[in-house]
Amino acid sequence: MYRTKTCGELRISDAGKEVTLAGWVQRTRKMGGMTFVDIRDRYGITQIVFNEETDKELCDKANKLGREYVVQIVGKVNERYNKNPKMPTGDIEIIASKLNILNKSLVPPFTIEENTDGGDDIRMKYRYLDLRRSNVRANLELRHKFCLAVRSFLDSKGFLEIETPVLVGSTPEGARDFIVPSRMNPGQFYALPQSPQTLKQLLMVAGMDRYFQIVKCFRDEDLRADRQPEFTQIDCEMSYVEQDDIIRIFEEMTKYLFKEVRNYDLGDEPFIRMPWIEAMTRFGSDKPDMRFGMEFVELMDILRGSGDFAVFNEAEYIGGICAKGCASYTRKQLDELTNFVKSPQIGAKGLVYARVQEDKTVKSSIDKFYSQEIMTKVAEKMSAEPGDLILIISGPDAMKARKQLCELRLEMGNRLGLRDKNKFALLWVVDFPMFEWSEEEQRLMAMHHPFTAPKPCDIPKLDTDPSNVLADAYDMVCNGVEVGGGSIRIHDAVLQAKIFEVLGFTPEKAQEQFGFLMNAFKYGAPPHGGLAYGLDRFVSLFAGLDSIRDCIAFPKNNSGRDVMLDAPSAVDQSQLDELKLSLCSDSE
Ligand code: AMO
Repeated sequence: MYRTKTCGELRISDAGKEVTLAGWVQRTRKMGGMTFVDIRDRYGITQIVFNEETDKELCDKANKLGREYVVQIVGKVNERYNKNPKMPTGDIEIIASKLNILNKSLVPPFTIEENTDGGDDIRMKYRYLDLRRSNVRANLELRHKFCLAVRSFLDSKGFLEIETPVLVGSTPEGARDFIVPSRMNPGQFYALPQSPQTLKQLLMVAGMDRYFQIVKCFRDEDLRADRQPEFTQIDCEMSYVEQDDIIRIFEEMTKYLFKEVRNYDLGDEPFIRMPWIEAMTRFGSDKPDMRFGMEFVELMDILRGSGDFAVFNEAEYIGGICAKGCASYTRKQLDELTNFVKSPQIGAKGLVYARVQEDKTVKSSIDKFYSQEIMTKVAEKMSAEPGDLILIISGPDAMKARKQLCELRLEMGNRLGLRDKNKFALLWVVDFPMFEWSEEEQRLMAMHHPFTAPKPCDIPKLDTDPSNVLADAYDMVCNGVEVGGGSIRIHDAVLQAKIFEVLGFTPEKAQEQFGFLMNAFKYGAPPHGGLAYGLDRFVSLFAGLDSIRDCIAFPKNNSGRDVMLDAPSAVDQSQLDELKLSLCSDSE
């Protein structure tokens, strides 16, 4: 046996026992005639003691150990003289009688401790060393627990876990596909699934009734902290259900996961269901962070046309938020906020601020354009009190201005410490529009995906007013993050064909791309619906992480590269020849 115990399990009650441990050398300290070696494995760290007086040869060997050497140690558990209450094994140490070096190690490029000295790139290049750090490993342990709990819950509700293929056909809607050339079918390509959406619908046609899968999805899109090119969904689908049934069961699952995995009680109350339009109006976002208030107040009625400020007079939206107790913000702080909203990512033209003073008068950056009476009306409408700071954003494009104000609200939430990572606020955003206009493509696009059912009462509007058709679609939002989304699906070939028409497909193109689905619908498709959670996002919320990368064993960087594997990379000409592919240079 390599070991009789792990490095994390010995306690004072084990004192006197002879044990064998195996692990990595965390660090070595020589103090007089004694050498202390901390060895680490997945379960913890144990201190090993070598005494020159009792065994000089063994102690000399221990003195030569380098960081990350792999060792096996035999010894006796001893009660420590200097106990370390910070370590679970801190009451004991092992008096070594044997030391076996199982493998040597080069000096690691960064220290493997909770707070490492390795930058992001170097940690990712040596991710197998980074994963030896206890906090990173803890994220993977949490992910494991999360998946187990998901499987146990869904199994208890009769869901079958069914795998779907990874080599599928390309679908033009949604993000860009990753495509894979087929050697056996030269000139033809598979695509990696962006999600198993159509396949899970076919499983409903096939009578599986309740399906789930913890599944890799692939999207070739611009990356952000909460986006990876390959990520994992908890993908679910159910037959013979309405929106309420789905919301009920997945709300139950979410509460179960919070309790079981995070030990957090979300209470018995159902989650808020907020219509999309309300979320956009109150928070400027379809994924509002509800851990704090600071809701938008529309100020068009008071500020447009009532003063000489051209920016407001030409605006299609003027909205403000009230930061409680922030009237004392210094010039520097206000400049920082102005620069923040004017940054290229946010793109606002400027920021107007107003302080409510002790005597209730309002001092603002637009005092020369507006009377005190108008500004007092603003403060009243915003329920601002003496000591509060009002921040106002406006713009000629209402949707853009709302989004900018949303970013400002989140920034203020951060600054005021209102976005506590140990607090969770969940809600459903419902009643999404079916379509959104794409400037780039100059056509309507599906807001969720083209298989989403319109609200039955809105079906007649598909011909007359498609922009105002609402969908039976819903997103689950936690702390400002979209953790999941889904919809009731179309199960009727005629309605599905109509949606493709609205999306600008010719009947031939729709048949070519999605004929398999529309044909299946002709063979008795049951009413069905479902949703998919982003597993990485959910786990990183549970772990309080800033990026989903930290809960993925081998993530890609922001350019979509795996720096450890050095992928993507060029391939041999012979591979290209076999695939009948030729590359053109940049200039072609
Ligand atoms: P959707 O595209 O909303 O829906 O995806 C579902 C959930 O997956 C997560 N997610 C991502 N996580 C990390 N990186 C990404 N690039 C990424 N993209 C999405 C989000 C999101 O809520 N087939 C539908 C679901 C359905 O209708 O049943 C779908 O894929 O948390």
